[in-house]
Amino acid sequence: MADSPQTLLRARVGAAVAVAFGNDVEAPEPLVVPTSDPRHGDYTSPVPMALARTLGRPPHELAQRLAEALDVLDVATTPEVVRPGFVNLRLDQGWLAGRIAELVGDARLGIDPSSSPTRVVIDYSGPNVAKAMHVGHLRSTIIGDCLANLVELLGHDVERVNHVGDWGTQFGMLIALLDEVGRPGRDGSASLAEVEDLYRRANARFADDEEFRARARRRVVDLQSGDAEARDTWRWLVALSMAENQAVYDRLGVRHLEVRGESTYQPMLGEVVADLEAAGLVVVDNGAKCVFVDGFTNTEGEPLPLIVQKADGGYNYDTTDLAALRNRVEQGAGRLVYVVDAGQSQHFEMVFAVARMAGWLPEGVEATHVAFGLVLGEGGRRLRTRTGDSVRLVDLLDEAVARARSFVVERAEERAQAVPDDVDEVARVVGVGAVKYADLSQHRQSNYVLSFDRMLSLKGNTAPYLQYAYARIHSILREAGWAEGAPGGGVAVVLDEPQELELAKRLVATGDVVRRAAEDHLPNHLCTHLFELAQAYHQFYEHCPVLRSPEPLRSSRLALCEVTAATLRLGLGLLGIEVLDRI
Ligand code: ARG
Repeated sequence: MADSPQTLLRARVGAAVAVAFGNDVEAPEPLVVPTSDPRHGDYTSPVPMALARTLGRPPHELAQRLAEALDVLDVATTPEVVRPGFVNLRLDQGWLAGRIAELVGDARLGIDPSSSPTRVVIDYSGPNVAKAMHVGHLRSTIIGDCLANLVELLGHDVERVNHVGDWGTQFGMLIALLDEVGRPGRDGSASLAEVEDLYRRANARFADDEEFRARARRRVVDLQSGDAEARDTWRWLVALSMAENQAVYDRLGVRHLEVRGESTYQPMLGEVVADLEAAGLVVVDNGAKCVFVDGFTNTEGEPLPLIVQKADGGYNYDTTDLAALRNRVEQGAGRLVYVVDAGQSQHFEMVFAVARMAGWLPEGVEATHVAFGLVLGEGGRRLRTRTGDSVRLVDLLDEAVARARSFVVERAEERAQAVPDDVDEVARVVGVGAVKYADLSQHRQSNYVLSFDRMLSLKGNTAPYLQYAYARIHSILREAGWAEGAPGGGVAVVLDEPQELELAKRLVATGDVVRRAAEDHLPNHLCTHLFELAQAYHQFYEHCPVLRSPEPLRSSRLALCEVTAATLRLGLGLLGIEVLDRI
């Protein structure tokens, strides 16, 4: 089957390694990488460099042998051997043209599903009950949603899991206070803000009221032992919080998440600890049941344990994650992904290590903590409101949409155009898209400064830039009558101009980029690709007339437009960002 060039060339290089150096020589990764300088071709194989040591031969000689064994002439021009020991490859124009013609009207844009699909559980968002989601949860939600989209496109069976913080001692305090003051709001419907206020009050009482503390502790025990009234209050809190969270998900346009909160694993916690004890992994330290893991120490350099049961008998966040992990693997997961802030790195490293020791995370099952940095305010400090509270997600989205709206209105006025009738819809798509893209286009490990001006700029690597590019291409396709799909019968594509060739090379690489973004859990790879693609399109459009060209050139160039628009739509869709045909 046809495939994206890097994937295709990888397979060819892999085969050539066996031919040139024998079957026992393992082909060293990476087999093929895109070049950064077009003078060196489009792709290069660093395999000879990597094999020089193992085989004890000069890399240049190995490169020659590899080039001779390479069977690529249907895809690329003759491989070029360069010093000190690389094999450079340049895509064949005929192959490229044929590939573009294949991509016209292909909803998957030639991205083949994986030949070894597996069940991938992606754990993201994870808000806490009785607290509003804040910007910290923003990153988890949108990065997780994007990764799930990527993995799903690649043909895996994806489970989107919301590990909601819906269990713990804080519920004892909340229930104890609600026992006293009753539920706020009319007919039991309160706002999350009112519940947050209760939370603050409960915390204060817990800090300086002995009697309240004792009652709160009793109520936790009641809740855990299934006391009907305590359960009822707890359920009310969970439902109220989740309804409000759902409103945020709806606004963000993220796909449906399966809510499997911490409470789900409650019945499994005792067994988790018992099994760890039976495996001889538990050490009792000051009454707490601990598992020590090699290589983990505290700031004083002393061994640091994972506490799986506190001295008072209570279980914690760690125990719950162990139970959840074990459960997910038992249910058939082949890969576990956790999209959680970098502050929890040690937690996940230790949970994975303990799970491996206990045999709950077998060899073939991969577990990854996809960590991310902080969202900072202008000035580089943690994002805070004027009153010092953490910023709520909804307020952030409201602001982005309001600013997008003024931006659309101003732009229309500048151009002496009418303000679009659907200005609110445009503002929503552009504003929410801008917030998401500003996040996803950063390397997730770095902290980033949230700047509305930058994210809404039409110049630069932003959602509006890509959305406007999409709308412009769409209007060309509309004018040509191609908007509802290309004319049947196939298009003969020619790539004589350098700008056509450059655009085509970027278009065919999308599948490779999607695969790399999914593998490295890095959505910013995809953002960079879309941005560079839009720039290449811009160059093409400057130099190559489309609608004014005679046939068959006109159709060939419309094909490039069509595949570019489809790539932007698919790519932005994978990022969870909408496009508009007209802006
Ligand atoms: N509720 C947690 C928090 O707000 C995030 C949960 C992440 N997922 C997990 N399996 N621990 O920090």
